[in-house]
Amino acid sequence: MASPPHTSKTLKLERYNSYLRRLHSTKVLNASSKLIFRVTLLIALVLILFFTLNYPPLSDKNPNHAHLHHHNFLSAALFTSSAGGDAWEKQVRHSSTPKKPNGLSVLVTGAAGFVGSHCSIALKKRGDGVLGLDNFNSYYDPSLKRARQKLLLKNQVFIVEGDLNDASLLTKLFDVVPFTHILHLAAQAGVRYAMQNPQSYVSSNIAGFVNLLEVAKAANPQPAIVWASSSSVYGLNTQVPFSELDRTDQPASLYAATKKAGEEIAHTYNHIYGLSLTGLRFFTVYGPWGRPDMAYFFFTKDILQGKPIDVYQTQDKKQVARDFTYIDDVVKGCLGALDTAEKSTGSGGKKKGPAQLRVYNLGNTSPVPVGNLVSILEGLLRTKARKHVIKMPRNGDVPYTHANVTLANRDFGYKPTTDLATGLRKFVKWYVDYYGIQTRVKKDSDINSEHPEESP
Ligand SMILES: NC(=O)c1ccc[n+]([C@@H]2O[C@H](COP(=O)([O-])OP(=O)(O)OC[C@H]3O[C@@H](n4cnc5c(N)ncnc54)[C@H](O)[C@@H]3O)[C@@H](O)[C@H]2O)c1
Repeated sequence: MASPPHTSKTLKLERYNSYLRRLHSTKVLNASSKLIFRVTLLIALVLILFFTLNYPPLSDKNPNHAHLHHHNFLSAALFTSSAGGDAWEKQVRHSSTPKKPNGLSVLVTGAAGFVGSHCSIALKKRGDGVLGLDNFNSYYDPSLKRARQKLLLKNQVFIVEGDLNDASLLTKLFDVVPFTHILHLAAQAGVRYAMQNPQSYVSSNIAGFVNLLEVAKAANPQPAIVWASSSSVYGLNTQVPFSELDRTDQPASLYAATKKAGEEIAHTYNHIYGLSLTGLRFFTVYGPWGRPDMAYFFFTKDILQGKPIDVYQTQDKKQVARDFTYIDDVVKGCLGALDTAEKSTGSGGKKKGPAQLRVYNLGNTSPVPVGNLVSILEGLLRTKARKHVIKMPRNGDVPYTHANVTLANRDFGYKPTTDLATGLRKFVKWYVDYYGIQTRVKKDSDINSEHPEESP
């Protein structure tokens, strides 16, 4: 017969075993729930990263911008986390190193702008090194500047985000890269806006230009500089076509006055420091990736939206006319000017001999009344414009521009080849593609089907 003490021992042992089993299973449960928690957290993080990288905000309806947001995420990280660091310097060097023997190494200011983006890509495509600089200001929709930046990045052109007035940034760039040339296109553009924000013109077009020249003059070697002046310097000049020898001391706007000041400042830096300087007077440049503040651009927008447009007449009821110049012609002019620019003669802030100082008109040589521009757009858009003909307000515009380009033709073979109808057709094709506008413009017209991302 089993004794009672023995039974109680077995019972105790079983209880003890069951206690150990419970303890073990609780530990397993704790460990596995920790594991599940960590795995869930990891999956959540991976999903957040995936959606951030792949989906633009819902408010952005333009399909072209989907990639832009992706790019911005990456490039913003690049710009902010490492400006001045090793990775940043590597990008700067890589972008500005020429791929062909004896290629140029060009700092393009205003590279996210209309003319700057076209020139940067053209230079890069022929094997030159290009580094961009732009402050991405919001004078017009900065998302267009970001879209151009994305296009440049695809073409291996890196844009440093910064201001012309940031002397230490500019000095740093010249410490990292011995630029052979500067193509200086950054400026506060626009004639009418000067009445609203005059200081922005002084800050970018005068103080910013001087700052750039100060850094260039101190650089060793000094770069040759090609920069954008403007046809607006002819102001109230009535002698046509406008020649570089005509008077330019009657500006009709503060914008024009700052460009004229730039030409005088260029003379000073050439004279004192031996900097090689070439000013280019552009005449109403238009084309794909253009500027939303310019008439051909906002006329297109307003005509498509059925809004009325203001078409200016002169005070004596004549048509206002412009020497509209297609962007590809202007790009050829800029590259021609860079290729024929002689070296600066100074070094480290000291002049060693006389240096080149030039000014050229870059126009189309055939002015078109603004009324004709509207008719061409009506045909391309297949929509009648609601024209509102008014006298041109006295806010800086001039009634007429017409370029004589003999000098540019003589010195670097400049010869504009695109008429307004052909150039506007290319602009409209880009416009409807870029803004994702589904209209009969796109379906019916015979606008050539080059993909916007492949131009400029
Ligand atoms: N487009 C034309 O019809 C025309 C005509 C005459 C002269 N220009 C001149 O040609 C140049 C290029 O014009 P665009 O049409 O490409 O203009 P844009 O406004 O598209 O390009 C200028 C770029 O410079 C940048 N910028 C402005 N101030 C800056 C600063 N302080 N620091 C750094 N970046 C700055 C802007 O963000 C912009 O991206 C400008 O100098 C303009 O005055 C243009």
